This record gives sequence, structure tokens and C-alpha cells, in this order.
Amino acid sequence: MKPIQVGLLGIGVVGAGTFNVLKRNQEEIQRRAGRGIEITMVADLDVARAQSVVGPDVTVVSDARAVIANPDIDIVIELIGGYGIAKQLVLEAIAAGKHVVTANKALLAVHGTEIFAAASAKGVMVAFEAAVAGGIPIIKALREGLTANRIQWIAGIINGTTNFILSEMRDKGLDFSVVLKEAQRLGYAEADPTFDIEGVDAAHKVTLMSAIAFGIPVQFDKAYVEGITKLGAADIKYAEQLGYRIKLLGIAKRRIDDATKRTIGVELRVHPSLIPSKRLIANVEGAMNAVVVNGDAVGNTLYYGKGAGSEPTASAVIADLVDITRLHTVDAANRVPHLAFQPGAMSDTPVLPMGDVVTSYYLRLRVADQAGVLAKVTGILAESNISVDAMLQREADEVGGEGTGPDGTRGIPQTDLIILTHDCKEAKMNAALAQMQALPTVLAPIVRIRKEELA
Ligand code: HSE
Repeated sequence: MKPIQVGLLGIGVVGAGTFNVLKRNQEEIQRRAGRGIEITMVADLDVARAQSVVGPDVTVVSDARAVIANPDIDIVIELIGGYGIAKQLVLEAIAAGKHVVTANKALLAVHGTEIFAAASAKGVMVAFEAAVAGGIPIIKALREGLTANRIQWIAGIINGTTNFILSEMRDKGLDFSVVLKEAQRLGYAEADPTFDIEGVDAAHKVTLMSAIAFGIPVQFDKAYVEGITKLGAADIKYAEQLGYRIKLLGIAKRRIDDATKRTIGVELRVHPSLIPSKRLIANVEGAMNAVVVNGDAVGNTLYYGKGAGSEPTASAVIADLVDITRLHTVDAANRVPHLAFQPGAMSDTPVLPMGDVVTSYYLRLRVADQAGVLAKVTGILAESNISVDAMLQREADEVGGEGTGPDGTRGIPQTDLIILTHDCKEAKMNAALAQMQALPTVLAPIVRIRKEELA
């Protein structure tokens, strides 16, 4: 049988990796897929550079639509990125009856509902293993490997740039801005790292995982997104002293009503989180990714690997090519659904607003070191019915000596008060924080970082 023909839109780092791995491992891949898989046409604005990557046997054009229009092409790989032209081209490829493989998490997290509906109507597949956690086959695991389970929660380190920065901050005791500059110099962080450091990239990925885990539509607009830009070295150090590490987590969690045991909502959030140092995922360092999935039957499972890079991401792209090669002749109704659940069986379980999220907290208060301050702070927590789990006080000399009071009085002895709480609703914590912040003896904005036990 002649090889299945693939057209590639955009040949950057991942595209080149895909071309090279496909060529290098063609025999093994063919033995698995039952048929050869060949990239025969590439579209890239820089034709000369693209041609130098793929050699003279592959047709290179500057117009992506020429690839989509080619009747010999069965599968289109979209590696352009972004929501603009990439969206148009993916929809046009679907309309032309091509199967699509994409690594574009932003596109699917925002426009996935429209794209998957178009694909289902046309009877083609849109595969996106490479969109979440690069080389880790987490989409396959969630969609197929864990299909027996009622998934309870997912927590992932799904952005390598921020994990690299947090690892460096912890190792070297440096603040965020210093490490970011170093990460950019080393090429770990993009020149414009906004999507990474503000948590947007992780939110795209966890949005996709939430849809597959719970059978809900992709709803990036409902995700709570907070990045790592405000984290200080002091909090990383205090967390460590309390037995925790701080990681940027993407979390998707099922919320169950205690009385009825029914699912009442889904928490969908990205923010820095304290996690116990003893958890395996707390020890994922540098640019690596890891995802913990908790299923009711299987318990906790952990997936670890490279979340970005040329060949790790190519590994995921090619896995999708093999899946499509095996399945494209199968009746569309018998294929694995895009989002794991049958399109007619999707749930309208709401994504909960952040105020309804239940979690525990790390609080750091810079306070005047005076009698009664601690009692006032814990009094507010007690009145709010927020239970304290652990506390730590760091003496004035350790936190920089004397400070300036809210009335401008100089020379006030100050100290850092660190409090870990038990679970409470975010709205309740927000109200208590506002009261604590208003105390004249609280001398600086309170630091609040959420905490996850991941047990
Ligand atoms: N920029 C991402 C990261 C990789 O740092 O993990 C692509 O999603």
C-alpha cells in the first residue's frame, strides 16, 4: 500500500523534529501503523530554509492553501500556532476532508468546540497529543488508558519555562525578575514570555485536559489564571521550611456535593501552589513537565517527561499520525471521540467561579512585632471559621529588621508571620484577607498562595 501522505504547515523547531523522526524511524513506524507515513509537502513563508530542512524530494510552497488543496494529502499538520490564520487553515483543511494534527493548545482551548464540531460533521479527526505537555502522552492516557475511571482531579506542571524559573529561584534563592532574565539569556524563556509566566499557556493545556477528563466543553474563558510574576524568594524559602515546594500547577478538579455525592461543578485554575515536598511531582525540576491524574478506580497516576522541544513534541505529533493512519478507514462513529466522551453525551456541569473554589492557603503577613498582633490575626481567621493548620514566625533580624508603620512612624520592629490554613472557600478567605489587611499592624500587602496536598 502506498504511504499515507502528510502536508505540514509551518516547519519550525517541532516541524523539523517531526520530519526527522518520521524519516529516521520510518521502518518501526510503518510496522506499527501498517502503512508508511510520509511528509510530501510543506508550506512555510521561508521556502528556502524549509527546503534545506526537508531536502529536494519534498515539495515546499509558501501558500498553506496549496497543501490543503492537494488531493493527494490525507493529513494536514498545523504547526503555525496562534488563533488567527491557524484557525482558518484548520477549518479549511477540515472542510476539504483532511484529518488534522495540531500542537496548537491556544487554538483548541479557545475555539475547540467549533473545531471539533466541524471535524465531527465532516467525519475527520483532529488530533492534539502535542498540545499538552509535549512528549508526555497525557491525552492518550486520559482519553483511553483511564477510560474506566471517574476522574476526580488532575494537577500538572505543564509549563516548562515557569518550572525552570521556580527551580532556579529555589536553588539560588533569587527573585523572579533576576531568574527570568537568566532564563531568557539561556533560551529557556521566550523574548516575550507573557503566555508562560502569566499562566496562560498552562491554562490552555489544563482547559483541554479538563474537557477530556470530565466530558465538558473546552472553556478557557472560565479558567482562573494567575502566573508566577509576583512570587518572591522569601516565600519559596518559608514554604521549604514548612515542608512544601511552590510549583505553578494547572488544576482541574471535580467538586462533589457532600450530601448527594453528585458532581456540582468543576474547578479549573492555574496558579502557584504549595505542594508537599515529599510528593513525586514536587521534585520535578527544571523545564520538565509532570501531570498527576486521580481516578476513582486507579488512584493517583503520574506522567513525567519533556513538555517541549523538537523531538519530544515530534514524538506526540507522530503518535497522532499513526493513530490517524490506523483509524481513518474506520467508520467515524466508531473512532475514539475527540474529547473522550461521545459528542452527544457531553455534560453541562459548570466551571465554578473562583470564589467557590475550596482549597487551603499559605499566608505571609509582614506585621509589627507587638503584643496582641498574632491574636488579632488569628481572631479574624477564627471568626471567619477558617482553621489554622500550622504557623511560623520569623524574627525581625531575619526579615530585614525595623520598618515603617502605616502612619509613617519609623523604626517599628517587624516580623513575618506565616500561616497555613485548612480548606475553606476562596470567597471566605478573600473576606478574611481584607479584614487582616486593614489592621494597622499589618505593614505590607499580605502574600496568599494556595496549597494543594495532592494526596
Ligand atoms: N512554552 C511552553 C513551556 C512549551 O514553556 O512549557 C510549549 O507549550
